[in-house]
Amino acid sequence: MADDYVIAIDQGTTSTRAILFDHAGSIVSTGQLEHEQIFPQAGWVEHDPKEIWNNAREVIGQALSKANVTRHNVKAIGITNQRETAVVWDKTTGEPVYNAIVWQDTRTQKIVDRLADGDVERYKAKVGLPLATYFSGTKIVWILENVEGAREKAEAGDLLFGTTDTWVLWNLTGGVDGGVHATDVTNASRTLFMDLETLSWDESILADFGVPASMLPEIKSSSGEFGVASDASLLRETPITGILGDQQAATFGQAAFDKGEAKNTYGTGNFLIFNTGEEIVHSKNGLLTTVGYKIGDEPTHYALEGSIAVTGSLIQWLRDNLGIIDSAPAVEQLATSVDDNGGAYFVPAFSGLFAPYWRPDARGALVGLTRYVNKGHIARAALESTAFQTAEVVDAVNADSGVDLTELKVDGGMVANDLLMQFQADILRVAVVRPVVAETTALGAAYAAGLAVGFWGGLDDLRKNWQEDKRWEPQLDEAERERTYRNWKKAVQKTLDWVD
Ligand code: G3P
Repeated sequence: MADDYVIAIDQGTTSTRAILFDHAGSIVSTGQLEHEQIFPQAGWVEHDPKEIWNNAREVIGQALSKANVTRHNVKAIGITNQRETAVVWDKTTGEPVYNAIVWQDTRTQKIVDRLADGDVERYKAKVGLPLATYFSGTKIVWILENVEGAREKAEAGDLLFGTTDTWVLWNLTGGVDGGVHATDVTNASRTLFMDLETLSWDESILADFGVPASMLPEIKSSSGEFGVASDASLLRETPITGILGDQQAATFGQAAFDKGEAKNTYGTGNFLIFNTGEEIVHSKNGLLTTVGYKIGDEPTHYALEGSIAVTGSLIQWLRDNLGIIDSAPAVEQLATSVDDNGGAYFVPAFSGLFAPYWRPDARGALVGLTRYVNKGHIARAALESTAFQTAEVVDAVNADSGVDLTELKVDGGMVANDLLMQFQADILRVAVVRPVVAETTALGAAYAAGLAVGFWGGLDDLRKNWQEDKRWEPQLDEAERERTYRNWKKAVQKTLDWVD
């Protein structure tokens, strides 16, 4: 008899994956397809929602066929996603009215300024977030104000909004033929519209934004029933029982279920999540307050988050825009061709600076250059920028919580990079620890889905699955650490002083 599995669909910023997991939380097979990154103007980033949905269907097929598994052995589907990316579509045709506006997109700055009216923190006590282009709410406003006919259709109740979890869920459950329009608490907590206490949409904020409530999905727990895959799907009749935004999913996949536990994911950007248990903690140091997870009717877990916009995408930029490496992993070899950064510091404020600064007007800078600096130093400075940005977020977490992190659990694509992980431990002065399954994002969505159908008995089962793969201990001399971190902060100041 074949084994049983849970499948996770991970709809990320650069690709969509489907991963089949077994009961031990090990990967059985993976399907993956990248999608186009559309840059219509400086600061604008879009995806084609139809391409994303087609890729989601295809990668499910890839994962099933590689493992020679049929839907009969798949007990549940979990979905995880790039979080604040906004899709608006016509529910009568299933057609998006505009491309998906991606979380990195900064076109809504004027909308932010208008809504803020001098106070970007005006909704923070309720929703945990400052007003910023990052979050999906302002992207919906842009679509309603700039796409011809969109506002009329929205007011007639014909348009639906969703982050990409909702877009995949709606299509997977039948689309125009009864698709389920829902999301989970973690994704809803990134819109600017959800009240963190009541976990419901806040009518007064919606009124300020001019967004009709009829566009918004139903908010559900992260682990629980969402719907069933439609007859048109390879997974027909399989229940969809887990949804988590990708960073919260990675936290879940790292088994960081309890207050005080944290993880840092190295993806397109970096996202550190610190579990604050059932308490809603408001940061005094530039972190976001967000929902960590909610299982069925159990109490909600909240978190503090340090979001960094550009880390892995800086390495792609070295590959695509400068052409100094052929592939992203090749950055490590180039960076190890030199002994240090040669005095160069690279602050990749391409989408402004997120945590802990929240300065949309900041722009990237490469400073400390002399004739001595070569492409090896630039590669090294690019990698180091990831570690420095993380260190600033960890400082904020330590200051907010009053307790210093004693080690950092890491995951995501860049944790394969030894040079970066060693430098991260050096700059943080704490151990950096990587689990055996570094695909914690997909694993977390699988866990949420599997818990709801009894595939896993409870959180203790999941904790047992977590295993350490590698640990980096700090080695750098303290005086050198202080010197280089101080120089980094000076470089950041240059990007904050920059005015276009
Ligand atoms: O907040 C944005 C985040 O969810 C995107 O994550 O891994 O797709 O870059 P990733």
